[in-house]
Amino acid sequence: MAYRTVLIEANQIMLERLSSVIKNTPGFELSARYATAGDAMGQMQAFKPELILVDMDNEKNGPLLSELKRSYPYASIIGMSRKWDSEAQSRLLGSGAGGFMIKPFTGEELVETVKNVTSTTMVSQSEVISFFSPKGKSGKTTLISNLASALAQRTGESVAIIDGDLQFGDMSVFFNLTPQSTIVEAVRDISFLSPVTLKSYFVQVGDNLSILCGTSKPDLAETVTMDGMTSLIHMAKSIFRYVLMDLSSGFTDITCTACEESDKTVLMAMVNGGYEVQHMKRAFEIFQCWDDYKTRIRPVFTRVNPCTEEERAAFSKALGFPVYHVLPNEYLAVSSAADNGRLVIDQEPDNPFSQAIMGMADEIAKGKI
Ligand SMILES: Nc1ncnc2c1ncn2[C@@H]1O[C@H](COP(=O)(O)OP(=O)(O)OP(=O)(O)O)[C@@H](O)[C@H]1O
Ligand SMILES: [Mg+2]
Repeated sequence: MAYRTVLIEANQIMLERLSSVIKNTPGFELSARYATAGDAMGQMQAFKPELILVDMDNEKNGPLLSELKRSYPYASIIGMSRKWDSEAQSRLLGSGAGGFMIKPFTGEELVETVKNVTSTTMVSQSEVISFFSPKGKSGKTTLISNLASALAQRTGESVAIIDGDLQFGDMSVFFNLTPQSTIVEAVRDISFLSPVTLKSYFVQVGDNLSILCGTSKPDLAETVTMDGMTSLIHMAKSIFRYVLMDLSSGFTDITCTACEESDKTVLMAMVNGGYEVQHMKRAFEIFQCWDDYKTRIRPVFTRVNPCTEEERAAFSKALGFPVYHVLPNEYLAVSSAADNGRLVIDQEPDNPFSQAIMGMADEIAKGKI
């Protein structure tokens, strides 16, 4: 049966254009058209609309959304705009609409948006966690890949990884992927995208785990701007419950932007015989310029041996700030899994590293990060 669709759009040319997309999309039927939400109100009972597409660029329509939702509780409401905007979208979701589309849209985008709305994949609450390390080879990608997968399995909620290690991102290697599109294309196109179209730049690797891979060409890293990165993070937040960001090591404009835009920043170092505590201290001092650094910075040490509470306490003392987690030295397990394009948590779920990751995922799920 076709979706009985109502289109609310004041611009005549746009109205004709969208009408023809709806009519030509199998599974949709255009029941009525109105210029404004005010015109539509009280007029639609007769044909029981299942889908109402509302122009959000007309300021008068926004305040009427809640009333529209109350009057037609069984209809899905989707806002349309020429440009995606995170604030407009959160107002929209707050007033009972289920989704957002950039107009003009294609038939495929319409189908995909409605699918998302009915399976309620738009999230109103999300958590972005970025992983920052002062030095390279600190175990970030190993942690993020396993943690994201554990979080998706344990919570059943949507989880995304964004590989923001712009020059030498290797998240695709950990998951054995050859992506069609990467962070470079996503940032390049971001101003034309809506949450639904951005989602297609991610590779889905499990029921609820998606990855936006890094580019294979280091010289393209320069095309990723701070504004582009900010827009990408904002839009990803509206699609996924958890977003984990891998970053290149050290302070750069992009790593700083990503940390600024994140709810939490995991500050990460690998124990490797010496200076890591000093490096962490120096990085930590820089993050202390945030007023709320105490609630946003979470230090983690990996490759800790023996991996005990005493060691964690010793690192906390040395850093002068609580260390959130210590992860064990499990080189053979993590490297053999990575060589096979698999994750340790899948290959060796009982391994102490896997157990520590599961514990961390459970804490994040409980909001304890
Ligand atoms: N807990 C651990 N115990 C032992 N070895 C580990 C552990 N975690 C990661 N490693 C190993 O350390 C190396 C670096 O890990 P990884 O690639 O995850 O770090 P990274 O911070 O992402 O590095 P890069 O700077 O290249 O992005 C890999 O060889 C990995 O197998
Ligand atoms: Mg890495």
